[in-house]
Formats: sequence, structure tokens, C-alpha cells
Amino acid sequence: MQQDISFPPYVRFADIYDKIGSDDFSLRMLRLAQRLLWKYKAEPSGALDLACGTGSAALAMARRGITCTGLDISAEMLAKAREKAAGEPGLPVNFVEGDMRRFSLPLRVDLITCFFDAMNYILRDEDLQATFHCVNAHLAPGGFFIFDMNSVHALEHIWGNNTYTEDFGDVTYIWQNEYEPITRTGTLTAVFFAKADERNLYEKYVEVHIERGYYIHEVKQYLKKAGLDLLEVVDPHGQPADESTNRQVYVARKPQA
Ligand SMILES: C[S@@+](CC[C@H](N)C(=O)[O-])C[C@H]1O[C@@H](n2cnc3c(N)ncnc32)[C@H](O)[C@@H]1O
Repeated sequence: MQQDISFPPYVRFADIYDKIGSDDFSLRMLRLAQRLLWKYKAEPSGALDLACGTGSAALAMARRGITCTGLDISAEMLAKAREKAAGEPGLPVNFVEGDMRRFSLPLRVDLITCFFDAMNYILRDEDLQATFHCVNAHLAPGGFFIFDMNSVHALEHIWGNNTYTEDFGDVTYIWQNEYEPITRTGTLTAVFFAKADERNLYEKYVEVHIERGYYIHEVKQYLKKAGLDLLEVVDPHGQPADESTNRQVYVARKPQA
């Protein structure tokens, strides 16, 4: 009997996420968020990082003295985050398992982040709306919400129906994308070959990840309905973004009471 090599998203990817440098991107987004916060003269003391993954951004915030909670739906990604936190005892950081579409935590923070297109994993309008309502409920008045998304343009033309491969030595992957224009979803079938032991044997496994694209005017409308003002949308360099921008970084704020 052939062994099943298909896994839900991040069950196996969690093992290699940091090893292939995926977490670096969240640190890049965090640096941009920091620059944007300076611009608005905001100095958060408490933060919530939604879809925190392996926790790199939450840990980096905690190292700067920002008390940070990371929330993620994947037990496997959280296990990696907690392992990293255990290596730096005393940092003001904790990790909780939860769904960003419906979470209720006993905290109110002045910054909520969500990096590396995690928001694109929300596939239905009503779930994006529900997520923004949860964000509002956990933000203090005047608090900031900063997140990045793959644009519809990126899912259609960069993911598209393209195949990408990369060889990192101990890990090689093949990412096959399929774009569906009606639902604006990109389905990424990721085939991984990861070194399994010292005999140079490689294990093959597959995860399917689905992302949906949203237009800026839709995101703005859902933010507004949740009681959040969209201040600006920029590209990863901090320059104004539009629909042709591949990655859109949203900066929203809860009005002062
Ligand atoms: C591309 S990773 C980004 C992780 C991290 N933010 C980073 O920048 O490295 C996407 C993350 O979103 C998480 N995720 C997807 N849907 C989620 C949901 N509904 N609620 C919470 N986390 C979710 C996944 O488990 C995964 O850790």
C-alpha cells in the first residue's frame, strides 16, 4: 500500500519554514511596519501578531520590549514558535492557538499585525469581515492594524498558472500554481523533498495552500464596516500601492474614542 504523502497546510512545512528563510519576510514586513508607526508617531507597548507562524515577528517585537501575543491556527507552526521562545526565557511573548476569523482573547493592544500574506488564506468575504471585527474588538482606541496581502494581480500573474522550483540543498520544492479568476483564488500545490536522515534519503510530501485576492476598495469597505479607518496602502518599500502592486501593505487605525 502506498503511503499518503498529502498533509494539511503547514503540518510539514512548519519543519522547514525557517530553514528555507521564509520567516525572514515577516521580519522585513516588521521593519516596514516600524517605519510606518514612526511616521504616525506611534509607540506600541502591546501587540498581537495574527497568523504568527513560527513566531519570528512576535519574538522580534518582544525583544524590543513590546508585550506580544502570537496567534495561529497551526499547532505545528506554534510548536516552532514556542520552541524559539523557550530559547529566550523572560521575553514578554506568548503564543496561542486560534482562528483569526473568530478569536476572543483577554487583551487590548495598540498594534495588531498579520504578515506574509496570511490574510489571503481567508477565502470568503464574510470571514474577512469577521476577522476585521475581531481586530477592532482587540485594539485600543487609536491602535494600528498593519497587514500585507498578495494582490489580485499577484495571484493572477505571479502565482498564475506558473511553476516555481527552488533547491536549498536539504530541501527542494516544486510549487505548482493554478489561478481561478471567478473566485480569484490561487491554489498552490507544494511538493517538498526534504532530507530525512544522514543517509541522504529524501522524503517527499505535498501540501495544498489556497489564497484569495481582494481588491483595495473591498478591503477598505470591510475595514470601515468593522470600525477601522484605512490610512494608506503601500508597497514593501513604503511607496503608494495600487491594484498593479504585487504586495499591498495596509495601514489601518481604530479611531480615538
Ligand atoms: C505564510 S504563513 C505566515 C506566517 C508568519 N506571519 C510569517 O510572516 O512568517 C501563513 C500563516 O497563516 C496561518 N493561518 C492561516 N489561516 C489562519 C487562520 N484562519 N487563523 C490563524 N492563522 C491562520 C498559517 O497557519 C500560517 O502560519
